[in-house]
This record gives sequence, C-alpha cells and structure tokens, in this order.
Amino acid sequence: MSIACSEADVGEERLHATRVSLVKDVQTCRVVAVNPEAQDVVSLRLQPVSGGLHDFEAGAHIRLRLGREIVRAYSLCNGPDERDAYVIAVKREPASTGGSAAVHALRIGDEVEVNPPQNAFAVDWSSSHLVLVAGGIGITPIIGMAREAAARGHSFELHYFARGTAWAAFAEELGACAWGDRVRSHYGYEASRVEAEMQSLLRERRPDSDVYVCGPLPLIDLVKKIAATSWPAERVHWESFGGAAVLPAPGESSAVEVRLARANRTIRVAPDETILQALLANDVDVPFSCREGQCGMCVVDVIEGVPDHRDDFLNDAVKANGDCMAVCVSRAKTPALVLDL
Ligand code: FES
Repeated sequence: MSIACSEADVGEERLHATRVSLVKDVQTCRVVAVNPEAQDVVSLRLQPVSGGLHDFEAGAHIRLRLGREIVRAYSLCNGPDERDAYVIAVKREPASTGGSAAVHALRIGDEVEVNPPQNAFAVDWSSSHLVLVAGGIGITPIIGMAREAAARGHSFELHYFARGTAWAAFAEELGACAWGDRVRSHYGYEASRVEAEMQSLLRERRPDSDVYVCGPLPLIDLVKKIAATSWPAERVHWESFGGAAVLPAPGESSAVEVRLARANRTIRVAPDETILQALLANDVDVPFSCREGQCGMCVVDVIEGVPDHRDDFLNDAVKANGDCMAVCVSRAKTPALVLDL
C-alpha cells in the first residue's frame, strides 16, 4: 500500500488501519534471533510458527501481544528481500510500563502473538526523492524505507540523529552497506545544532521530494516547523513513538460509564484513569501505542454517546462526526458511551 498523505489524510489512513486492526486475527510467531543493536536496543526476528509472512511495505508496523495488558506496536525494519521473518528493533525504556521490558525479556524459541502488518506511514514512491530523517529508535521504519528505496534504485538520503554511536541502532550496518554514501550521521548534537542542521536540510526543497521523519515528538515538531516554510504539507510525513499515559488532571474529569456493545459488558472509568486503562484492567484487548493521543492506534468506534475528544490524531471533521475516539486520552461529554468493542 502506498499512499500520498497530507497530515489529515495520514490521520484518516491510520484511523482506517486501526479499525481494521480490531478485527484481524493474530499469528503466533517464534523468536528466531535476538541481536544487540545499540545500547538498550535489541533487534528480534519473529517467524510465523505456521504459514508465511503477510505482505507489507516499508513503513509498516506489527502489534505484539506481550502480556495480559500489554499490546504494543513496533515498526518493521525489513528490507524488501527479507520475507522470512518480521524484524523489529526495540529500545528498553526506563519508564516502560511493560512493553519494551517484555520485548527485551524474549529469548530465542519464545512465542509471541503478532497482528498482521499495517501501514500508516507508507512511502509515496511516485515522488522523485526521499529525505529520510530518524531520531534515535525512530530509525526502525526509516531503515526499512532506505532498504526498500535502495532496492528500487530510488533516490534518497538518510539523516540519523542520535545521542552518539553507542546509542545508534544499526550504525555499523549503515556505515558499511552498499548505500552508506546516502547516510549522514548526526550524533551527539546539542538541540541548537540539531535545529541548525535541520534548517540546512530542509530550507530548500529539491523538486518533487518528500520528507519522512520518525523519532521523538520534539524532532517531529522541528521538522514540521521548518518544512512548513517551503514544503507542501502533503509532502511531509511523520510517525512518532513512545510516551507515558496522559492521565486526567485532578478534578478535570468525571467518571464515565463505558458499555461494550459486542462484549455485552459495562465498565466504569474513574475520574483519575483513562478509558484505555480501564479497558485493559478489565481484560479488554485494545491496541495502543503512544497513550498520548498521537498515534491513532487506540481509536475505536463509538455507537452511542458524545466523545470529548482530547487527542491530536483525529482531524476536526472526524471529531465532529463523533463516531470514533482515541480512548487513551479522550473521554465523554455524556455520562455514558457505547463502544464497538
Ligand atoms: S494510543 Fe496513540 S492515540 Fe491512543
């Protein structure tokens, strides 16, 4: 799937992917390789126990079920010639609530449930040149894009921002691969230097080029801010990762009654917890990733009730319709909601 997306369209695409994800079956995969890639970063190869890999293109992600309440999305790093296993790389986050720690605990031979790949960050191969920007572990979808671009003979450049070589996953491979001359490493920069480098990178846009950025939100915001002066919005593509749960501020929210139409259950959400937290605590399997209203992974359909949208993912038109919501941050304007779960 390859879609040229404006930011709003990216939102629509992710929303569509998320809705599809809620009904797709999982596949059991076995860990066949675990490799250290950088400080606190390991890569894993996950091979289906039966059957082959589902089709996917650069930018796709899979969701792993890592425990009763832990479902996490990870970008695929595969090049187009790697179709014997899903390849992911995961940084162990000190603030992790279980996802990265659970991945780092996996060993060869362990089995894990994996949802089929989905792609909310697909490359528009009709553009003539790709500017790929990675920040830290944001290299994971970006290296897949670079590998596919190289295999296609597509013009691209890759800019990798990291704390230092020791923290840069795949640094060795990027330095030694056949397309290493397209890679620029920007390691150990202060924030001011990152901004200066980004200014020089994006100030002038090569005709018919697209920029793809994945990394922490400040890096994405910087790219969006600088690109806004000379890049059409639909030529700037981004994907963020990570983040702690955004909890309602004390006194800010009321309790919500959430009825699950398909499960025929009712769950009470306390004022100081998110709907997502309440769902997970009650064994309701809802996919999620950022928990900050950024990624769209947790969007579910609303059958009744009026959502109080607090996310940055859904566009205004979708929010106005009120027929879906990001349950990690959004709440309700009505005492109860009926969700399609
Ligand atoms: S988990 Fe990312 S928007 Fe809800």
